[in-house]
Amino acid sequence: MIRSVKSEVPVRLTVKRLGEYHAPIEGRAGKLRLDFNENTIGCSPAVRRALARMTRENLAMYPEYEATTRRLARFFRVRPAELVLANGADDALRLIADTYVEKGSAVLLAEPTFTMYRFYAELAGARVVALRYDDSMRFPLDQALQALRRRPRVLFLANPNNPTGTLLALESLRRILAGAPQTLVVVDEAYYEFSRATVLPWIRRFGNLVVVRTFSKAAGLAGLRLGCLFASQEVMDVMRRACSPFPVNTAALVAAEAAVRDARFVRNYAREVSRSKQALAGALERMKIPVFPSAGNFLLADFGVRAPRLLMGLERQGILLRDRSSDFGRAGYVRITVGTRAQTQRLIGALKRLW
Ligand SMILES: Cc1ncc(COP(=O)(O)O)c(C=O)c1O
Repeated sequence: MIRSVKSEVPVRLTVKRLGEYHAPIEGRAGKLRLDFNENTIGCSPAVRRALARMTRENLAMYPEYEATTRRLARFFRVRPAELVLANGADDALRLIADTYVEKGSAVLLAEPTFTMYRFYAELAGARVVALRYDDSMRFPLDQALQALRRRPRVLFLANPNNPTGTLLALESLRRILAGAPQTLVVVDEAYYEFSRATVLPWIRRFGNLVVVRTFSKAAGLAGLRLGCLFASQEVMDVMRRACSPFPVNTAALVAAEAAVRDARFVRNYAREVSRSKQALAGALERMKIPVFPSAGNFLLADFGVRAPRLLMGLERQGILLRDRSSDFGRAGYVRITVGTRAQTQRLIGALKRLW
């Protein structure tokens, strides 16, 4: 048996306070992965070809960001100075916290939401002010506007929200941005390709807006880790100061360029997911399982007390869904990633057998 030696080095208080470390789920390959909102058919074949063309020299060199930043900026219709690349949206969120959150700063969020907002805020020593989505999964707009009067340093907001699927109207976002000039409002648009709703052009209008996007979801590149941050040049210049020198690897740059060149692949996939989502929502409703409207590539359903047994049964058949009961304080809430119609039919068949 290997005995680990004891360390006497003091650990940062904020790290000590974090919950126990839980390794991300492993062993998902080969299964129908409807648990992490990934692209369920994989990235564009053009991306694979571009990666195969990489040379040994490419891999030996440190990454160079200028050309890809210019190419992506053109695709997103922003100036290169308004874009920073990050190692996935997660890394983008960490960079925001590293740049803006001081020990004791207030960070506002509405839960349930993407868990990494709280994680990076707490890691930075923030005081987290958490509002709640209501039982119909509506964003608590009035409470948020009120909380913003106290000028929290950052507001993290996923639009559409994960796991509720809620999409906040543009007018509500405008009120939030206009009402909080001293709060950095982070609008995480990880699921933009499915919702088609964006405030990205507003980075020229609001100096307190940061938009986050990712290549992990619709583009099918979660394994390569590429996220994008967008804001006014002034905000981006500040964040660049806190950035690691090489946060994104060369393969991710090559893949991203190929992915935006083949934007049709993503559009077609999003269209397929939208049809599939309707079919799944319809099937769940017919089975009398409550399901919430969603603007993302996932649906939140309430399977009640039978959820744990159902999830186990599905897993035995190689189908993975995400149990979100801990977000709601009771068993039942399950988030289901929507894939192709064929994949959804497989899921519906299994659900009918197990329900
Ligand atoms: C709202 C939201 N933001 C960010 C992420 C993380 O994206 P990435 O893989 O780019 O780190 C996720 C992933 O589930 C998400 O749901």
